[in-house]
This record gives sequence, C-alpha cells and structure tokens, in this order.
Amino acid sequence: MKALIIYESFFSNTEKIAKAISEGFDSSVEVEVCKVGDVKPEQLKVIDLLVVGAPTRAFRPSPGVSGFLKSIPANSMQGIKAASFDTRIAIEDIKIRFLRFMVKLFGYAAEPISKKLRKKGAEIVIAPEGFCVKDTEGPLKEGELERAAAWSKQIIEKV
Ligand SMILES: Cc1cc2nc3c(=O)[nH]c(=O)nc-3n(C[C@H](O)[C@H](O)[C@H](O)COP(=O)(O)O)c2cc1C
Repeated sequence: MKALIIYESFFSNTEKIAKAISEGFDSSVEVEVCKVGDVKPEQLKVIDLLVVGAPTRAFRPSPGVSGFLKSIPANSMQGIKAASFDTRIAIEDIKIRFLRFMVKLFGYAAEPISKKLRKKGAEIVIAPEGFCVKDTEGPLKEGELERAAAWSKQIIEKV
C-alpha cells in the first residue's frame, strides 16, 4: 500500500507528529512524508492512503494546508482512503476564558480537513485526531509522539 503524509509546520511540532505517524506504519506500507509546499499533483494519483496534518491557526487549518485542499480537483480523490490530524492547544491549557469559548464554538483544524477531503471524494477511515502542544511554539505534550504512532496503527487496521 502506498501512503502519503502531507503536513505544514512552523515550529516543527506538526512535522514531528507526521514523522511519528509514518514510523507507526508497518513494512507493508510504502510511505512518503511531504511538506505541503513540496507536493506535486502527480503524487496524489498513485496513492492508496492520504494523511493530512496542519497546525490549528485561528480555529482552522493553517493557510498552506487550506490552499492545498482547495487546489485538489473535484472528485479526484475517489478510491483514496484518508485521515486528518492537527496540532493544537488543549482547551484546559487556554488561560483566556473568551478564547476557550471560541474554541468550543469553532473547534480545531483536523475536522474541517477531513470534511474537505471527503468533499473531494476521499473515504475518511478514522475520526480526525488532535495532538497537543504546551504552547504556541511547542513543545508537544508528553506522550503525543507515542499516541501518534498508535493512531497510525489504528489507521492501518481500518484500510
Ligand atoms: C497565529 C496563530 C494562531 C493560532 N490559533 C490557534 C487556535 O485557534 N487553536 C489552537 O489550538 N492553537 C492555535 N495556535 C497554536 C498552534 O496550534 C501551534 O502553534 C501549533 O500547533 C504548532 O505547530 P507547528 O510547530 O507545527 O507550527 C495558533 C498559533 C498561532 C501562531
């Protein structure tokens, strides 16, 4: 099976999760990990599984990932299985009450990524997942890399 993991990352936290996911796949998966800006349209034509990850920015996927999702031609993801993840600040770590309210209202990046992939024809195989950073620039909270590797094993069980 051929898999592609696409991510954007400003402070390297999402990149670390993307790599941990790739390392969680077993040897039956031929996996490539690619920054969103380096993806070529041909790459999407030869894969069985696509995983897309973004840092959450203003309750949405980061701009590079949003632009990438927009650029995928309609229905071109038919026959491809997909999953999405984000990095985020856990609601209990947000100090400002108003921001907690906004997060409850608008959520995080992973869900809209999966919605968009489904709209382009992909089959979403697992619920969108979030991995937490301690602060804007990281680091990741303890145990998140291990959780990412475990999540990728769950993906393989479902494809
Ligand atoms: C401009 C900006 C907006 C952000 N908005 C959110 C947000 O709405 N929700 C959230 O959980 N984290 C938010 N964050 C924190 C990012 O999720 C965090 O920087 C990211 O997970 C780090 O991943 P990276 O190292 O791959 O860039 C924001 C950070 C920045 C700089």
